[in-house]
Amino acid sequence: MGGTGSRLDRLACRGCGRDSEPDRLIGTCPECGQALFAEYRTDRFDARSWWASLGNRPWTLWRYREMLPVREEAAVTTLGEGCTAILPLPAVPGAEGVAVLLKDDGTMPTGSFKARGMAVAVSRARELGARALFAPTAGNAGIALSAYAARAGLGARVYLPAVGTEAVQAACRAYGATAVPVPGTIRDAGAAGRAAEAGSGAFEMSTLREPYRLEGKKTMGYEILEQLGPAVPEAIVYPTGGGTGLIGMFKAFRELRDLGLTDARPRFYAVQPEGCAPVVRALDHDAPRIEPWTDPVTVAPGLLVPAPFASERILEAVRESRGGGVAVSDRAIVEAMAWLATAAGISASPEGAAPLAALPELVRSGRIRAGERVLLYNTGVGSGFDVGRLRAALDARALDAPAHAGGRGRSTIVE
Ligand SMILES: Cc1ncc(COP(=O)(O)O)c(C=O)c1O
Ligand SMILES: [Zn+2]
Repeated sequence: MGGTGSRLDRLACRGCGRDSEPDRLIGTCPECGQALFAEYRTDRFDARSWWASLGNRPWTLWRYREMLPVREEAAVTTLGEGCTAILPLPAVPGAEGVAVLLKDDGTMPTGSFKARGMAVAVSRARELGARALFAPTAGNAGIALSAYAARAGLGARVYLPAVGTEAVQAACRAYGATAVPVPGTIRDAGAAGRAAEAGSGAFEMSTLREPYRLEGKKTMGYEILEQLGPAVPEAIVYPTGGGTGLIGMFKAFRELRDLGLTDARPRFYAVQPEGCAPVVRALDHDAPRIEPWTDPVTVAPGLLVPAPFASERILEAVRESRGGGVAVSDRAIVEAMAWLATAAGISASPEGAAPLAALPELVRSGRIRAGERVLLYNTGVGSGFDVGRLRAALDARALDAPAHAGGRGRSTIVE
């Protein structure tokens, strides 16, 4: 075992402009409390030769190790994550003439793209001496944290919205983690977790409150370039909750351009459910920041994020890429799950099916045009979700809905 060759240089704060030293455990900027972003040394780096040599490496996201933060191979904690398939879809109704691809992270260890971020962040926390880790979660992040912490030999505690997460709690406990149900949304779970862990010595792994989950997620963009080469799609449609997926892919394409490996500038479209769409609302209103969404409700637990942290960075990723936001109904999400399974053989969670649900609207509004290539990102597997039960729950919600609520119904979370 030796060094990974990581070129990690510093942690940059976009809030106050101060850099932080990366080789100690650190969450957010000590000066201003905002998110920190890893920057790499690219001087005397023959990126083209590096890129050309990747083909000889194992098919995991660690093939990009020079542009990842972990320095010692011994710290790398892996379950074989990354390098998921990109599949063409059959003709999508409402998107005639558009070449539609889907990247399938439903096949990742622990069933979702959250494994990317946790593999890298747990490895790095282990390298920097953390003994125990905690995070609030809507589900998948907690399962991934529990699995990678188990593999690293670290303790893990996850704080979850109490309603509808019973199966997730069991999955986390199966990996030996402690699962703590909290009344309310992931926001409440985050506040409760931080209060309970104050002084415990455990390291917080919340989205963008530590710098390295984002680094794992950016490998989605690296893979898209490596797998599709010059045919990078013009548009990438991505389900957005906390926003790390989008910010990570935006960072990836910026780094890949800075390394001289591509000129591609895909447009990023953030998809959110109509019942919790703070990012889409801010984009629609040209707002400088994202305001918290009140009374959130959706069938997609990972998208139930009423107040994403680092919201300016989400808006930046979408705006600078010249993309946009789309809100989709829960019913469209459930029908997209059904279509992916029956017409394409692909198992998608509600979050993972949301991009397909958004595609007809993107085409109808002219934001995606015939002749373009578009990549839909399936972020998680559909096992554990029953389309029949979801349809029935939506029917019941429609019956419940007071007329003035625009059909949204009561603020219950349908699992
Ligand atoms: C399957 C799935 N997709 C998407 C998301 C949203 O991810 P992000 O935080 O990158 O916006 C989540 C978050 O929990 C998720 O579990
Ligand atoms: Zn700062």
